[in-house]
Amino acid sequence: MTQIFFPVQRKYLDSFRKKEDELIIEMELYAIEHKVPILNWHAAELIEKLILINKPERVLEIGTAIAYTTIRIAKCLHKDSVIHSIEKSEDNLKIALLNVEKSGVSKKIKLIQGDALSIMPQLNKKYDFIFLDADKEDYKRLFDYSMILLRKGGVIVVDNLLWHGYAASNRVPAKYNKSTKHIKDFNKLFILQQNLDSMIIPIGDGLGLGIKK
Ligand SMILES: C[S@@+](CC[C@H](N)C(=O)[O-])C[C@H]1O[C@@H](n2cnc3c(N)ncnc32)[C@H](O)[C@@H]1O
Repeated sequence: MTQIFFPVQRKYLDSFRKKEDELIIEMELYAIEHKVPILNWHAAELIEKLILINKPERVLEIGTAIAYTTIRIAKCLHKDSVIHSIEKSEDNLKIALLNVEKSGVSKKIKLIQGDALSIMPQLNKKYDFIFLDADKEDYKRLFDYSMILLRKGGVIVVDNLLWHGYAASNRVPAKYNKSTKHIKDFNKLFILQQNLDSMIIPIGDGLGLGIKK
């Protein structure tokens, strides 16, 4: 993995972490132990702030994993708002369900099992906020569906746009060649998308942020 940040600055920023609730820390430790990729906590904090500012009524997450960000988002939502989160791995979804049950915000969360590529075309109600965090080779098609499902003025956030530093590197290990190409192609599409006011924020693994025009 290439460095995105200088270690000194990273350590400095890490020192400002506020006390998280136990379940959040438990999920982070589970993710490390079981090698489940979850959102970087700095990026999760930014998404929480966006939710608090934007006050969405309907949120869609594509790629639940163990429901780490799902729960963090749900905690910031108004009591009548909802987050729908799609996950294709049955194993991840089982853990996600257990975490959601423990979260205290399960009423605001609906987990949907299946491949988002087949589920999204069946969804017909618009969303105010979409978080895309799935397999990189699916990003383009999932993004196209997201743009259909996102209401005008709605916000889309996409994770991993710096792709462990490889998106901006000339030295990409062979096993990351394909995924890096997917991300680099996706980034051009994301930034050039006509009906989206978009940017890439160097936080976590690189967060794409767009507002639908
Ligand atoms: C990076 S993890 C998601 C992390 C989660 N959003 C979080 O912030 O903690 C990606 C997850 O997306 C799921 N996934 C990948 N492609 C998918 C697809 N096409 N449909 C549904 N789930 C998908 C994977 O099984 C994996 O659990």
